[in-house]
Amino acid sequence: MQSPLFKLLVSLTLSGAALAQDGPPESYAEAFPDGLDALDTYSGGLNSLRYPRYAKTKWPWGKVPQYCYDDATGDTPDYCDVYHIEVYEIAYSDCASPTYVCRCNNSPMSIDTIARQYGKLPVKARQWNRYVTSYNGSECSAYSVTTDLSFFGNCQGKQSVFFHELTHNLDRWVAGADLDASYSDTSDWADVISQDTCVTDGYAKSSWGEDYAQTGVVAAFDLKVASVNTLDVDCMSNQINKVEDQLSGVLTGTGSCDRAWALSPTVCMGDEAGAACDDLRRDTKERAGTVASSVDVVPVPALSGEILEKVNGRKIEAAKKAGF
Ligand SMILES: *[C@@H]1O[C@H](CO)[C@@H](O)[C@H](O)[C@H]1NC(C)=O
Repeated sequence: MQSPLFKLLVSLTLSGAALAQDGPPESYAEAFPDGLDALDTYSGGLNSLRYPRYAKTKWPWGKVPQYCYDDATGDTPDYCDVYHIEVYEIAYSDCASPTYVCRCNNSPMSIDTIARQYGKLPVKARQWNRYVTSYNGSECSAYSVTTDLSFFGNCQGKQSVFFHELTHNLDRWVAGADLDASYSDTSDWADVISQDTCVTDGYAKSSWGEDYAQTGVVAAFDLKVASVNTLDVDCMSNQINKVEDQLSGVLTGTGSCDRAWALSPTVCMGDEAGAACDDLRRDTKERAGTVASSVDVVPVPALSGEILEKVNGRKIEAAKKAGF
C-alpha cells in the first residue's frame, strides 16, 4: 500500500511537470517567422473570402448593450468614452440572429469595413461569437473574451486577425458543453504539439491557446482558400490535422446559422444621455433585439477564474500593443 507521503510526492512531481511549461517550447522552429499576415493575401488569401449581404441599422444614441459598456470601460484608460459608442445591428443574409457591433466613433475602421470582414468568417463558426467591438489604436490588435471579439486600430485587410480571434471562441467550444474550459489547455493539445517540430511563429509560443488560435488561421486558409501543401508546414502537420479534425465542420459548413449567444441587457450610457433613455430605467433588464425561432439561443456561461485570468491577460496585452 502506498503511504500518503508517497502519494503526495507523486502528485507534486506530476503537477511540477505540468506547470513547467505554459506554451510550446521556445526552441521550436517557426513555419511563418514573419507572422500570418502572408495568409491574408497569398494565393488570394483569407481576404478574398466572400461575405454575405447585410443590412445595417444604427441604434439611436443613448443606449448600449451592457457588454459593450463594460468592455469599453473595464480597463484603464477607457478604450472609448461610453457616450462615443455607436451601436449597429448587422443583419447578415445567412443568419436570422443579427450581430451587434459597438464601434467607438474614433475607430479607424468604418462600420462597413467591420461588417464585411466579420462577415467573411464562415457562418457556422461566426455563430459562436456574439458582440464585436472596435476601438481606435496605434496599430491593429485584437482579443477574444471567448464569446465576443474586440479590435483596436485599423485591421482592414487583416482577415487572419479575425480568424485568430474567432478560433479562441472555437477553442472553448471544442472543450465541451459547459464551455468553462479551453481545449488548448488539455494535455492532449500539448501532446499533439510535441509530435511536431515547429509552430506557426513566435506569437504561437506565448501560450498553448495562442498556438491553437494561430493554427486555426492556417486551417481556415487550407480549408477555405488553398491547400497549405505548397507552404512549408509539414513540421506542424499534427497541429493542423488536429485543428482541422475539430473545426472543419464549422469552417466549411454553409447555409444559415442555427444557434446564437443570448444578448446582454441594454443599459443607458449615463446621465448625459438624459431623455434618450427615459424609457429605460437603469435596473431594467431589457434585452436588445429579437431572434428568429430557427435559432437556438444559448445563455453565456460564467467564465471560470482560470479562463477569466487568461482573457484579461489577452485584453491587456492587445490594449498595450494598440497604445492604451
Ligand atoms: C487614434 O489613435 C492614434 C494613436 O494613438 C492617434 O494618433 C489618433 O489621433 C487617434 N485618432 C482619433 C480619431 O482619435
